[in-house]
Amino acid sequence: MTQDQLKQLVGEAARDEVLKLPAGQILGVGTGSTVNYFIDAIAPHKSHFAGTVSSSNASTERLLKHGFTVLDPNDVVQLPVYVDGADEIDPQGNMIKGGGGALTREKIIASMANQFLCICDSSKQVPVLGHFPLPIEVMPMACAIVTREMEKLGGKVALRLQKSVRADLNQTPSQAFVTDNGGWILEVTGLSITDPAALEAQINQIAGVLTVGIFAKEKADVLLVSNATGIKRIVL
Ligand code: 5RP
Repeated sequence: MTQDQLKQLVGEAARDEVLKLPAGQILGVGTGSTVNYFIDAIAPHKSHFAGTVSSSNASTERLLKHGFTVLDPNDVVQLPVYVDGADEIDPQGNMIKGGGGALTREKIIASMANQFLCICDSSKQVPVLGHFPLPIEVMPMACAIVTREMEKLGGKVALRLQKSVRADLNQTPSQAFVTDNGGWILEVTGLSITDPAALEAQINQIAGVLTVGIFAKEKADVLLVSNATGIKRIVL
């Protein structure tokens, strides 16, 4: 099975899971290629949900195209479940997220939900977080200071660039990838993330950081993971 087929499989498994919710609930929807399969899978069942809240412009666009109602998070009080992917997930449910650059809105909506349902293929499961470059969304004016602070923590820092210029050797900050919030993304490698909650709290203290892509406070509660033999459901 290809990785895309595994993503589709777990997207469909998540559809079956959320359809067990009573009708008329609001659904929290994440971002990424796995979530895209999930959105497409629930589209025929949209009348089961009173609406959705979305973690990115890309997911909002896809939800609207399918005819879902997309609500302003400020108007939502009760969110039973938030469904999203991950770049890495450890055995405790701590995650690195933000590969798609949507980490800030993802963390906000995750914090609103009673349950974080993480969906991924088994390549995302790791014993310890940190091989995937840790995304940190920063205010553009704080790019240099946050870079220096992360270097003090032992990280090697690179500014995420727009996809089209990544191969270009003459990269400049004017070619920075810009998030839905107008932020920039720093990608940090070389960190040993043995205590995700502590590192998340520490990076949150750096002025200019909007969101760090460690999801320990907002970790996964339930993991649906696909591999060649099928789907596993793990309560974390
Ligand atoms: C986006 C994310 C995604 O959930 C993460 O990057 C996984 O994406 P994909 O399902 O495409 O592998 O955090 O900001």
